[in-house]
Amino acid sequence: MKYIIGNWKMNGSIEELQRRIEILETVKTDHRVIICPPFTMLNVKSDRIELGAQDISMHDHGSYTGEVSGQMIAQTGAKYVIVGHSERRKYHNETNEMVRAKAEQAIANGLIPIICIGETVEEKNAGKTAEIIERDLRGSMPTDVKSEIMVAYEPRWAIGTGVIPTITDIGNAHKLIADILESIGLGGTAILYGGSVNAENGPDIMATPNVDGALIGTSFLKMETFVPIIESVE
Ligand code: PGA
Repeated sequence: MKYIIGNWKMNGSIEELQRRIEILETVKTDHRVIICPPFTMLNVKSDRIELGAQDISMHDHGSYTGEVSGQMIAQTGAKYVIVGHSERRKYHNETNEMVRAKAEQAIANGLIPIICIGETVEEKNAGKTAEIIERDLRGSMPTDVKSEIMVAYEPRWAIGTGVIPTITDIGNAHKLIADILESIGLGGTAILYGGSVNAENGPDIMATPNVDGALIGTSFLKMETFVPIIESVE
């Protein structure tokens, strides 16, 4: 079983989400399909498709205009929350410390955080991929994890670009993440790959050791490109 997660970013509508859920409920698969729509759509219900938020406040409650707390997300029925997506890190200057605080808020409210990490193109070209993965993974990891979490490796240069690392590089990155997680007592944590996944590259990426699923942006924009990923993965 793999996790196939659609990150809808700032797109869609409630009607369109309902339509997508109807389509996805008819797809025969053993994989876990999860949709992460904007906050305002999180209380749409489905028996088979799970929902997750795209962000969470690092605060519990209070005077933080525009923010949405872990408790509020949990009340919608959503089960997951993406934290530290590269677009949050880039456009909202989120640091590892903030991502860690967000992941801790998720856990405190019974949500499963999907903790995103990944190097920039400059870091990749400087040969620093492994160093950045380790720094961001350790820096973003909540302390004293006792419930389920997920990690998403998303090389920033692969997001929305149509370019992906080689399968060998994906395998190496995921092995490094798995080893670090193991060393801190979190072996078995699901590790997702994200960045330009489509129906052509999806099967090879997901057959790579230590790849437990995919976080998908562009290919989720249309059901014509998302459903074939679900159907193509072993
Ligand atoms: P992409 O986005 O599939 O368009 O590369 C992935 C993501 O942003 O999580």
